[in-house]
Amino acid sequence: MPNDISRPIVFSAAGRRAGPPTIAALMNAALENPSLLSLAAGFTDNGSLPLPAVRQAVEDLAKVGAMEPLQYGTNQGRPGLRRMLAAHLRTWEPDLAEADTERNFFITNGSQQALYLAMQVLCEPGDIVLVDRPTYFVYLEMIKAMGIRAVSLPVNAAGRLDEAGLDELLHKLVGAGEAERIKAVYFVSYFSNPSSRSLDAAEKVMLARVLARRSLILPVIEDAAYRDLYYTMRPEAPSVLSIDAWSDFPKLYLSTLTKPFATGLKVGYGYCTDREWLARMLHTKGHHDFGSPNFNQAVLERVIASGGLTTQLATIRPRYEAKMLALHETLVGEGVEQAGWTWNKAQGGLYLWLKGPDHVDTRLDAEFCRRCIDAGVLYVPGDLCFGDDIAVNYMRLSFGVLAEPELREAGRRLAEVARSF
Ligand SMILES: Cc1ncc(COP(=O)(O)O)c(C=O)c1O
Repeated sequence: MPNDISRPIVFSAAGRRAGPPTIAALMNAALENPSLLSLAAGFTDNGSLPLPAVRQAVEDLAKVGAMEPLQYGTNQGRPGLRRMLAAHLRTWEPDLAEADTERNFFITNGSQQALYLAMQVLCEPGDIVLVDRPTYFVYLEMIKAMGIRAVSLPVNAAGRLDEAGLDELLHKLVGAGEAERIKAVYFVSYFSNPSSRSLDAAEKVMLARVLARRSLILPVIEDAAYRDLYYTMRPEAPSVLSIDAWSDFPKLYLSTLTKPFATGLKVGYGYCTDREWLARMLHTKGHHDFGSPNFNQAVLERVIASGGLTTQLATIRPRYEAKMLALHETLVGEGVEQAGWTWNKAQGGLYLWLKGPDHVDTRLDAEFCRRCIDAGVLYVPGDLCFGDDIAVNYMRLSFGVLAEPELREAGRRLAEVARSF
């Protein structure tokens, strides 16, 4: 009998909306073509990945015959690790009440999962999230796939939050009957991906006040993925957790042990001030995976207890600064500024954010990008990092993974293309 009963799969709206993640394509491009120098994917420094600390932690676990980490753990994450992360957070936010912190923490499969959980429990398709400008493009792609609209928080020419612009934006949204659809505000507050900029305390206070003035006491998500990755100066601004102007807002503070320790362990964490929001995220996490890898958490517990995180941070901070300088100085030396590009040196994190002349289009399918790939260098096109009102003459350069000689070579290749445009 002919088999003619097959028919195309009918995917859900969510399945249809989910496009291929650009981050995966960029990571693959780098892995598949070793001659291509990738300033695109946010890999970390290979040479300083903490093999000895991880080996020691695993040996210690084996020595004491700890079988339990090889078993499933708990949905919310290992209590010991949560306690340690709470203590770590209190080094940044000394006023947080000790009693609360462990309960408010949850461990996730990278902070990426926490971002997903937060959005999944807050938003319906068509809802709005206010985002910083520019912002983390993987987050933008994720919310787009959920049918959520990103609306950028206005900034001035210096990239600082613009109070008048913000007020006007909120006035317009409220006037258009959209107030109910605005479900959250999200920003990357320290050494941002992509801009390497940190929000200062005054900007954070202003943002809370303007939102409150419009009666928009929204859930706020502060993404502090790079807070620990300062080079020499600890960033001064407190997080929203310790700023009075935010006290009435439900707050979710996110960070991760991937960038400051080992990306491959993929352990991130969140601290949520709102019980119900936390509970709903945990229920949803239960549906995703009912717990992040217990073994990785046990390893990290050992590492932190023995001072390994502090040691690793002391190792990588100067390393990333040296890498940043290698790339920055190459771009300067090769005349990229004279070609009309501007950027700031980073004080922490893994990125340089370059603004090109108005006529340059850095998008993936544009001539500039093709020429860079032909020249053997890849970057993240800046248009991906804008929630709306997209600018096409920016690029994000990640200096995390390449060694300094490669960074200089990548900078030279990029400069050659930039000069010829
Ligand atoms: C701003 C920001 N937030 C969150 C993440 C997610 O990191 P992870 O899932 O590795 O913790 C990243 C990763 O690049 C990031 O840049």
